[in-house]
Amino acid sequence: MSDRPCIIQIAPMIPSVEAALAAAYEVHRLWEAPDRAALIARIGPRVRAVATDGHRGVPPEVMAGLPALEIISSYGVGYDAIDIAACKARGIRVGNTPEVLNDAMAEITLGLMIALCRRLPQADAFVRAGRWRDGDFGLTGELTGAHAGILGLGRIGKEIARRLQAMKMKVSYHGRSRQPWEPYNYYADLEAMARDVDWLVVSAPGTPETRGLVSRAVLEALGPDGALVNVARGALVDEAALVELLAAGRLGGAALDVFAEEPGVPAALLEMGNVVLSPHQGSATRKTRAAMGDLVVRNLAAHFAGDPLPAPVV
Ligand code: 8YV
Repeated sequence: MSDRPCIIQIAPMIPSVEAALAAAYEVHRLWEAPDRAALIARIGPRVRAVATDGHRGVPPEVMAGLPALEIISSYGVGYDAIDIAACKARGIRVGNTPEVLNDAMAEITLGLMIALCRRLPQADAFVRAGRWRDGDFGLTGELTGAHAGILGLGRIGKEIARRLQAMKMKVSYHGRSRQPWEPYNYYADLEAMARDVDWLVVSAPGTPETRGLVSRAVLEALGPDGALVNVARGALVDEAALVELLAAGRLGGAALDVFAEEPGVPAALLEMGNVVLSPHQGSATRKTRAAMGDLVVRNLAAHFAGDPLPAPVV
């Protein structure tokens, strides 16, 4: 037993975070424990902090076994995998990693859109297969001049909007409320926006309120000439309807970085030419992940120094 604060790390993290945690805390690596329940039973009463990520959060059985838990520091901006209500009730602080991933998220959004519209995966395959000598690849769509509707004009949504403007696109948004100081067109009704736009870009957080917001009706409104881009959470979209409408040609295309049951991807999507698929890697650049890791460490350090968290959720 050490006199350093005892923490549980839920899953592997980048080396810089692991090194910083090991230097400051007595770290227990949950994913390596042969018997997780036994580990929790043994050290649970001494655990003061959890380090986790946006995918794994803190499983309820782990939360329940940590009566002295003071803080959860999560490597990700989304905290849908953490029971925030339970944390509030127990006075547990939660820190996340906002802002530092905005640019990377916006970048992948544009990348996915260009890939889908200009058919870059297919173009690459075409050249590799030696088919260029047999004839041209064919014509594609173009982002320039098209109309994009952003669902969720938050910190990430705003960075996406700026880049869409740079692509000379018309930009609208839907969210809980109008942001009068923003130069984009506001739609109070998501379905109405979907009807008007060529691209529906999902960048809202995964919450009980946003679950299923991109419903069958919204996707139908987007229509055969429209495309869905999701870099937020799979739970926001009716995935079954998405697959069905894409297959039937009633939705033009989809560029997806997130899915309902990751790492599972609906098998039907794998066969479709009108989709671009990405393995939830919006923030996964070396630069951004280093900055996120730094915030994970700083949230913990601030807590144990008795300071406000640099990035508090609660
Ligand atoms: C990460 C994310 O994939 O920030 C989020 O909410 O989904 C991502 O940046 C994840 O948290 C890292 O494991």
